[in-house]
Amino acid sequence: MHDLRSMECRVFGTRTQAERELAVEVAELVRVRPDAVLGLATGNTPTGLYRELARMHRDEGLDFASVRTFNLDEYCGLTPDHPRAFRRWMREHFFDPAGIPAANTGFPDVGENVGAPGASDRIDPCADFERAIRDAGGIDLLVLGIGRNGHVAFNEPGSERASRTRRVELHPWTRADAAAAFGGLDRVPTHAITMGIATILEARRLRVLAFGPEKRALVARTLAATADPDWPASQLHGHPDLRLLVDRSAAG
Ligand code: GLP
Repeated sequence: MHDLRSMECRVFGTRTQAERELAVEVAELVRVRPDAVLGLATGNTPTGLYRELARMHRDEGLDFASVRTFNLDEYCGLTPDHPRAFRRWMREHFFDPAGIPAANTGFPDVGENVGAPGASDRIDPCADFERAIRDAGGIDLLVLGIGRNGHVAFNEPGSERASRTRRVELHPWTRADAAAAFGGLDRVPTHAITMGIATILEARRLRVLAFGPEKRALVARTLAATADPDWPASQLHGHPDLRLLVDRSAAG
């Protein structure tokens, strides 16, 4: 049985300090292992980390050319170039400014709405994604944020600790939070493909970021709960190298 309270929480005076700390850790990993495998989140939370890593690439010659990446999730039903597709967001916010070749970046293939009724006469892209991660040697360091309902990636409440990459229905809060970006709730996809909790737990290092007062209750519940499927972030407890990096306002 896993140890249930093993989440190291580091509190920083400012968000920038936390981002810098994690950027330095990622940079050290990449310098030691130029072909390191990174797991990456989208959302507002990791933007400063990506900006700092891109700055290190530009100003300090940090070389990402051989790094491989796997993103946590992707919306179903969007083309890769859709303005809200995570693949496009990552290209604009991180891959291009940090010099990461598109060929080195992995996303769940949502092309045919895998898992949807009547759409399964081809190789399962969820299994493909898991295999690609394994073939790369597994994820060395994975960056996560926490959603309003405690989700990590798109593992919504009810997600099991043993869950793997799969097609999921998005929670109403998750869709509501994305409505402004999509220009209306009815334009927000109803489904996504996400790494499962078990997939995430296989990464060698997990780094969870949370900033701002709106994350305070989320951080408290993540630290207090123990493997509660209704609070997916709490399912990360027990990972041997798990760290939460928060600013003072998120720490309460
Ligand atoms: C999104 C993503 C998550 C992200 C979370 C929090 O829906 N799928 O990976 O961590 O919501 O988003 P934000 O960082 O914008 O608060």
